[in-house]
Parts: sequence; structure tokens; C-alpha cells
Amino acid sequence: GEGITILGLESSCDDTAAAVVRLAGESRAILSSVVEGQAALHAAFGGVVPEIAARAHAERIDVCVERALEGAGTRLSEIDAIAVTAGPGLIGGVLAGVMCAKGIAAATGLPIIGINHLAGHALTPRLTDGLAFPYLMLLVSGGHCQFILVEGPEDFTRLGGTIDDAPGEAFDKTAKLLGLPQPGGPSVEAEASRGDAARFAFPRPLLDRPGCDLSFSGLKTALLRARDGVVAQREGLTARDRADLCAGFQAAVVEVLAVKSARALDACLDRSPGMSAFAVAGGVAANQAVRVALERVAAERGVRFLAPPLALCTDNAAMIAWAGIERFRLGHRDGLDLSARPRWPL
Ligand code: KG4
Ligand code: ZN
Repeated sequence: GEGITILGLESSCDDTAAAVVRLAGESRAILSSVVEGQAALHAAFGGVVPEIAARAHAERIDVCVERALEGAGTRLSEIDAIAVTAGPGLIGGVLAGVMCAKGIAAATGLPIIGINHLAGHALTPRLTDGLAFPYLMLLVSGGHCQFILVEGPEDFTRLGGTIDDAPGEAFDKTAKLLGLPQPGGPSVEAEASRGDAARFAFPRPLLDRPGCDLSFSGLKTALLRARDGVVAQREGLTARDRADLCAGFQAAVVEVLAVKSARALDACLDRSPGMSAFAVAGGVAANQAVRVALERVAAERGVRFLAPPLALCTDNAAMIAWAGIERFRLGHRDGLDLSARPRWPL
């Protein structure tokens, strides 16, 4: 019938995912969204191992596609196009998704639409809330940290971003240095809620520099120094030490994100006073302290704050299918010569 139904594939990092999303008139529906995380495969290595990730994607992507179609109750003949993450990301993983999409396309004659993974995140608030352009997006995860002014389905302006680590990475390293479980974000947040943020001095990197760039690698160094300072006086860390270190670290991350968000939002409001919202995506957006701080920044400026449900904030294929719908509507189609782009700025 009328409408657009797209199968989306995502395999650029450590989640293998497939989803079916449908747009009919004004109504947007995620018919299915399958995500297979690889965390267990990489846990022993303390980070994502590209070769292991690539092999797991290649082994699982077909299964995810089958499950997504089955879950949606959709036959391939009812699909209008296949949207696939073509980058940026780990080349082996991106290739696994692109090859799978090409296989289906070759067998069915369906068009392929290559999607930039970051565009998938940036357009998610339109899938979840029908948000109008323009809006500001802060993408804040284990791999990314950037401010993106979104003015159209293919109109992205990067206002600034991290010059070194992503905040999620900093949370993960902090957990590792303190012997807390991975992923670090939730465990550091739990510790921080019991701690005294004022006990240890953490820097606020780049805060005095104009613009929206951020830096987080200095926080890790500061944490290491503070931890070793405590350990030098006593045998090891007490529960109190751990909580205070986490609280100090998290307070620094939150303040840096809030100050830079305020600056990015002001720049956007100068440019388009009719800005519809300040939206966040990425795993770090799960952090309550981060959310509260960003929400306040938006409220102070009379701007709506929007955080999509967590399952759609982190890596998934529904956002890729949705970005595919947006491109499909504009008449874009890629061919069987679509290539994987490990580096692909928005
Ligand atoms: O978006 P995501 O699932 O994957 C990518 O990085 O692409 O984000 C995962 C990151 C991890 O670094 C994790 O530690 C962090 O998000 N994270 C958090 C919290 N929950 C997850 N960071 C801070 N506070 C949290 N509650
Ligand atoms: Zn992502």
C-alpha cells in the first residue's frame, strides 16, 4: 500500500543490528528492531577488537535480517529499499553490512541506500518525536562527542566536538582504573551518587577556550594522579575514596558538557531563532547528572530538551532505516557499487 517501508542494517561498531521501519502519511512505525551486542566477545580484551567484531558481524548479520523481517511480519517483496551503514566505523564491520545489503539487492532488485552512521543518530529525534528542522543534536557516546546543527535530512553542520577521547571512553577508563565493572558509565554513575565531588580537584579542560570543542583525556590523567595520591598514603582504595573519585570525575564531565552545550545552543539560536529543540543521543545520555544539566541549559533558553528512548540513543538499525526513509523520499538510491567508508565526516 501507500507508504515507505525500509530494511535497515547496522554493523559499524560492536552491535549487529537490523530493523524494519515504515512511514505511512505522518505515521512512523518501528515494525522491528533487532540488536545483537558483542560486549561478551570483547569483554576479556578491555575494548572492541576489530577482527573479532568483523567476524561476528559477518556471522550474525543475516540472522539479524531474518529476525527483523520475521518480527515485522514483512516479506522482502513489501520492502522498498535496504538502508545500510556505509561508514564511519570499523572497516570490517561496515563491509559485512554493505556486503549483506548488496547480496539482498542483487537477489531482489531492491535499491540500496548508503547511510552515514552519524546521520542515523542525528535524525533519530525525527523518528521518535517527529521533530522539525532545525535542531541541535549532541551526540555523546563511547566513540563520539559532537555538536551537530541539523537543518535538513542531509544538512548537518558540525559546531564542535572532542579533540581527543569521547566522554563514554573516559567513563570506561575511569572504571578500569578504579577496578569497577564495564561498561564504565553506569558503574561510575552509581559510585558518584554516593561520593563527594569536592574532595578531589579535577580540571575543566578547554572551558576557557572559545567555541564548542571539548577535551576529556586530561580527566583520565587527573584521575590517575588522584588515585595514586591516595594509594601512596594507604594500602589501597576504600569505598569512600572510590565514590569521591567518581563524583569528582563525573562533575567535571557534566560541567564541561553543560558549558559547551550552552555555547552551542546560543550559536544555534543566533543563527535560527526558531530552533525546535536541543536533542541528545548516545550512551552517555543515559547518565542522570548529564541529563539534568543539559535539560537545565535548554530550559534556561526556553528550548525544548529531547532525549530519545535509550534503545534508540545507542547503536541500532531503526535509526539507519529511518535515515534511509529520509533519503528515499528525496529520491536518493545507491547502486551495487556502494563502497564502505571507514572515515566519513558528516
Ligand atoms: O552509544 P553507545 O552504546 O555506544 C557507542 O559508543 O557507540 O555508548 C556506550 C558508552 C559507553 O562508553 C558507556 O560507558 C557509556 O556510553 N554510558 C554511560 C552511561 N551508560 C552508558 N556513561 C555515563 N553514564 C551512564 N549512565
Ligand atoms: Zn553510534
